[in-house]
Amino acid sequence: MSVHIVKVQLADRSYDVVVGNGAISSLAGYLPKKAKRAVIITQYGIESQVSEIVSAAGLQCETVFIGRGEEFKSLQTIQHLCESFGQWGITRNDLIIGVGGGMVTDVAGFAAASWHRGTDVIHVSTSLVGMVDAAIGGKTGVNLAAGKNLVGAFWQPKAVICDTAFLSTLPSKELRCGHGEMAKYHFLTGDDLVSLELDDRVARCAQIKADIVSSDEREGGLRALLNSGHTLGHAIEIESNFAFAHGEAVAIGLIFASKLAHSLGRVPQERVDYHMHIVGETYGLQTAIPKSCSLDRLVTLMAKDKKAVDGLTFVLDGPQGVETVAGIPPQIVYQTLEAMEVL
Ligand code: GLY
Repeated sequence: MSVHIVKVQLADRSYDVVVGNGAISSLAGYLPKKAKRAVIITQYGIESQVSEIVSAAGLQCETVFIGRGEEFKSLQTIQHLCESFGQWGITRNDLIIGVGGGMVTDVAGFAAASWHRGTDVIHVSTSLVGMVDAAIGGKTGVNLAAGKNLVGAFWQPKAVICDTAFLSTLPSKELRCGHGEMAKYHFLTGDDLVSLELDDRVARCAQIKADIVSSDEREGGLRALLNSGHTLGHAIEIESNFAFAHGEAVAIGLIFASKLAHSLGRVPQERVDYHMHIVGETYGLQTAIPKSCSLDRLVTLMAKDKKAVDGLTFVLDGPQGVETVAGIPPQIVYQTLEAMEVL
């Protein structure tokens, strides 16, 4: 078995992201010596050997299942988890392990950040979105009625295990979401990701994310580039009533961002064509605006995006590379949207 070890460099909070087919077997080596017990937070239907590995290492192991869907990414779920930790007598020396996709690791991370004001957590990521993005970088949190991920904490894991064997069983919609998030990495650096085999490509995306987190843990600047495609992406998610899931919507957002960059004279048409090639042809994702979406409402939603601190704000390609651009005139945004294909 050959795995990639990607380092997130954060001084005394540095950790490894282990990527590859069979990476799960490295989990035992990351279990903290001080832990006597581990709580696995997962969902029904996710098969993993985590409980066997943890028990074989001599830790007492409990498993708690959380619901599927954004409605379970809630403070009620955090309360339920913490009540369970209390019943099992979990101490701050013990370990929490999130086993699942981005929703599970966000919730497990927040429960770990909150329990005794901070308990060790390891993420075992089972989705492509998790492996290239969500499980890495310590953003944890839950939703409120007022919006997604509004309550949370930065809490870095002790390790992230990305066993790519999980990807062979991923439903096609989840794979599409992972491809949408993966596509954005093609535009952040000059790397030729297309030439890489899947494991190498996942590892390279994890490395790009790790490098960004290492230099800007709290999103003071560079980390915001990971929101590329997300301004329109979030608006499409909401306006389509979540018929378009996050990564699928981000894919369309990436195309829009390239066209907007072109409308603003920041990139030539060839750069837009390259975005179409990667998103539409390489990953086979939808690049057109969903016909159920009203353009007016999309613009209104984008103006309300929680990252939009100074008018309509997008992460856009340009002569200096990808950067955050604020205060874009609504007419240009609308006209660029209007010129896009609708499907
Ligand atoms: N998912 C974006 C970030 O971790 O910053």
